[in-house]
Amino acid sequence: RGTMTVGEVAKLFHKDASELIKKLLMMGVMATINQELDLDTIQLISAEFGIEVELKLPVEEDPFEMDEVVEDPENLMERPPVVTIMGHVDHGKTTLLDAIRHTNVTAGEAGGITQHIGAYQVESNGKKITFLDTPGHEAFTTMRARGSKVTDITILVVAADDGVMPQTVEAINHAKAANVPIIVAVNKIDKPEANPDKIRQELTEYALIPEEWGGETIFVNVSAKSRTNLDELLEMILLVAEVQELKANPNTTAKGTVIEAELDKGKGPVARILVQDGTLRIGDPFVAGVFFGRVRAMVNDKGRRLKEAGPSTPVEITGLHEVPQAGDRLIAFDDERKAREIADKRTITLRESELNSSSRVTLDDLYKHI
Ligand code: GTP
Ligand code: MG
Repeated sequence: RGTMTVGEVAKLFHKDASELIKKLLMMGVMATINQELDLDTIQLISAEFGIEVELKLPVEEDPFEMDEVVEDPENLMERPPVVTIMGHVDHGKTTLLDAIRHTNVTAGEAGGITQHIGAYQVESNGKKITFLDTPGHEAFTTMRARGSKVTDITILVVAADDGVMPQTVEAINHAKAANVPIIVAVNKIDKPEANPDKIRQELTEYALIPEEWGGETIFVNVSAKSRTNLDELLEMILLVAEVQELKANPNTTAKGTVIEAELDKGKGPVARILVQDGTLRIGDPFVAGVFFGRVRAMVNDKGRRLKEAGPSTPVEITGLHEVPQAGDRLIAFDDERKAREIADKRTITLRESELNSSSRVTLDDLYKHI
């Protein structure tokens, strides 16, 4: 079925339904005891309660399972880190990323609020870093959850003139649940009322102890507006990435994740993909979620057309017949027939599982493969 009611989840967690409803309200979701919650929301709620849920869903002989294949270390090469910028609304995530990219995205956003995940790549000291901007607005909780699942490093942005806020805590919970290291960027230090030490103090409550206080968390004071300490932040990101030894095999068919997808009036279905392994090329047949496609055109974050995209590259692709879901896995194949066959099979699995009122395959991908 892919969903559970508030009452059922409460029972599973050994909690009172009213407690659950309260938490949901804090996350900006109005719910009653009979409300159906999707798996995204259930996972988020579980993180709030400090409960770990493992979702075991039926996938039989699905080639997407081939993901589990262990690569020969000889084929592996260094890949750029995927860094997600998280934090409370208006704490300066987009401005910070803008400053890093030397462009100006915030000015073009509706009401200055980020409504989707922007994906960008920058270069620092000859090394590439892939950034995902996420929205801090409470309405976008599930989108943020997706962001934290493809991520190697989280940059937690906290405004020095404000403090630790609900979405700050949520971001910490996501990062911890996904076992992703956090670098804290204490932003807006240009403001006269900025108090970066107060932020440090507040975050100790969440077990983020600054290195300079004997802890293990890297804190960098920044100002996105006056572009202060951005180099230091990038340096810290590359430092953490180096320790992680992030690798992928560029010489294989691509595997990635749909960050977001929509129906464009002119172009048809477009999907923003993060390639995670292998190389995606124009003409490659692929399956995204349950849909077959063939890469028709690929554009990078600078609007430049690409012929191929390697590991950790965010690209916008066309060539799909239908719109996949954010969080869906994308897998490319050498052989178009194979891709079509798998897409057909996955569609059937999805339909069957809907009929059987069991779990949804697309959501399964979200949790099992990322
Ligand atoms: P959401 O995407 O809606 O969650 O917000 P955000 O975190 O991306 O914040 P955004 O970058 O849109 O910035 C919010 C406001 O803070 C804007 O008015 C920015 O100009 C301002 N701002 C961001 N960084 C700084 C900074 O370093 N100093 C000062 N003084 N203002 C800043
Ligand atoms: Mg933003």
